[in-house]
Amino acid sequence: MKFFIDTANLEDIRTAEALGILDGVTTNPSLMAREKITGEEAILSHYQRICDCVQGDVSAEVIGTSFSEMLEEGERLAALDPQIVVKVPMTKEGIQAIKYFSDKGIRTNCTLVFSVGQALLAAKAGATYVSPFVGRLDDISTDGMALIAAIKKVYDNYQISTQILAASIRSPMHIIQCASIGADVMTAPLSAILKLLEHPLTNKGLAGFLADYHQAISK
Ligand code: E4P
Repeated sequence: MKFFIDTANLEDIRTAEALGILDGVTTNPSLMAREKITGEEAILSHYQRICDCVQGDVSAEVIGTSFSEMLEEGERLAALDPQIVVKVPMTKEGIQAIKYFSDKGIRTNCTLVFSVGQALLAAKAGATYVSPFVGRLDDISTDGMALIAAIKKVYDNYQISTQILAASIRSPMHIIQCASIGADVMTAPLSAILKLLEHPLTNKGLAGFLADYHQAISK
């Protein structure tokens, strides 16, 4: 399973990249706004900076909601860097835009997916990635992970090549469940990824090994 980091924060991206486990980055307009990146030029420069920090795919989301706005914006984003994947919302216009981009060889990430039907449409339109939002379904007492499993089953039935990018991942358990189901990619904040490192028996075991070593060499 590929690990993407879900942030527009350059420091977090560099930290994950330095770990050597990072395969890409996803952003969204809220994450960009959190970093106070607003205005077309600033947004494009920030995406370029993100691409310079990592080797993998970088999802950059369109703001326009009409077909023509999405095409114009998506083409500008895609021209910025070969790493850019144009992130398009799951709407009627979004599906039309994904089909257009797919025919032109521009890679896409269909975002805000909350049902198997939406995931099927995104795949039919030729999306490179489909992003079902696990945490936001959990937030409304609906099993987000069940959606990942259901999409996986349908995609497997037809050997669909669209990659399942499990999004809105909030905890280490979410990450493990995604891997167990067989999601192609998961995207999570740095905090959830770093929590995978932790186990009390690792800390206790290491403390024991070091204490024994230091006791032995002090004799
Ligand atoms: C997906 O690409 C989104 O950026 C993201 O995963 C949304 O996560 P949230 O529900 O925690 O905001």
